[in-house]
Amino acid sequence: MTAVEQETGAEQPILRVNNIEVIYDHVILVLKGVSLEVPRGGIVALLGGNGAGKTTTLKAISNLLKSERGEVTKGTIEFEGNPIQSMNPHNLVEQGVIQVMEGRHCFEHLTVEENLMTGAFTRGGDRAGIARDLEMVYNYFPRLRDRRTSLAGYTSGGEQQMVAIGRALMSRPKTILLDEPSMGLAPQLVEQIFEIVKKINEQEGVSILLAEQNTNVALRYAKYGYILESGRVVMEGDAESLRSNEDVKEFYLGISTGGRKSFRDVKHYRRRKRWLG
Ligand SMILES: Nc1ncnc2c1ncn2[C@@H]1O[C@H](COP(=O)(O)OP(=O)(O)OP(=O)(O)O)[C@@H](O)[C@H]1O
Ligand SMILES: [Mg+2]
Repeated sequence: MTAVEQETGAEQPILRVNNIEVIYDHVILVLKGVSLEVPRGGIVALLGGNGAGKTTTLKAISNLLKSERGEVTKGTIEFEGNPIQSMNPHNLVEQGVIQVMEGRHCFEHLTVEENLMTGAFTRGGDRAGIARDLEMVYNYFPRLRDRRTSLAGYTSGGEQQMVAIGRALMSRPKTILLDEPSMGLAPQLVEQIFEIVKKINEQEGVSILLAEQNTNVALRYAKYGYILESGRVVMEGDAESLRSNEDVKEFYLGISTGGRKSFRDVKHYRRRKRWLG
């Protein structure tokens, strides 16, 4: 805690992204001054449509942009008060920052349990601790216990998402950057997975930055949200205020005073009138 924070009683956020700019291939400017904070133990949603810059923001934090020919060209990123931009992804995992990639990447030719074990790669020979955490993952995801010897490639989309989250847990993270866990899953399964994420957040104290197109579900689980459009934060606020905001309702929740709008109507309307300039 800094002196100011001690005086004000405000706790320093665990993650702070300050005015970052990201450029791909030296010329494509994608993030234009994005700032956000994740409080320790909080769940924060990063919302926005296709191509808004959610994944880019998460990859900027976990330092995974290099392989995409992307670069943070301005701004700072701090984890627990320390700059982390020069750390490689491996060091970041050791520090407690891990990303669960969009599209639930699993090693398809490995079993569920082998996939989970790959998540413990930074932990050396801590066998007892690793065994304990494997048990913890199975307690959060009983479905994975049943499927522990199945090849991940033959499990369902929902199970693969569970494997991806479980694998991240095996690194004993302090913060998980979770990229679109709802993608391609049936609503009931989405709900199940979010319930488990919430439990992990509450019981393990893991902070979560959640990138989602599914605004409705994300704002039910997150306490605070940021809305990205074309690489800029166009709105932020606590989840409740975002959910009741007329523009959010109209553009991201598909609800307007005239009843529910179809996605196409909303799209069409958006093309005519850009909101919030
Ligand atoms: N490797 C890359 N090289 C060039 N441009 C890229 C690269 N990756 C992403 N982009 C561009 O950056 C912008 C933001 O993409 P990003 O994947 O961060 O969006 P997103 O909000 O995660 O979208 P989605 O919800 O579809 O996953 C898009 O215009 C995209 O085309
Ligand atoms: Mg994305």
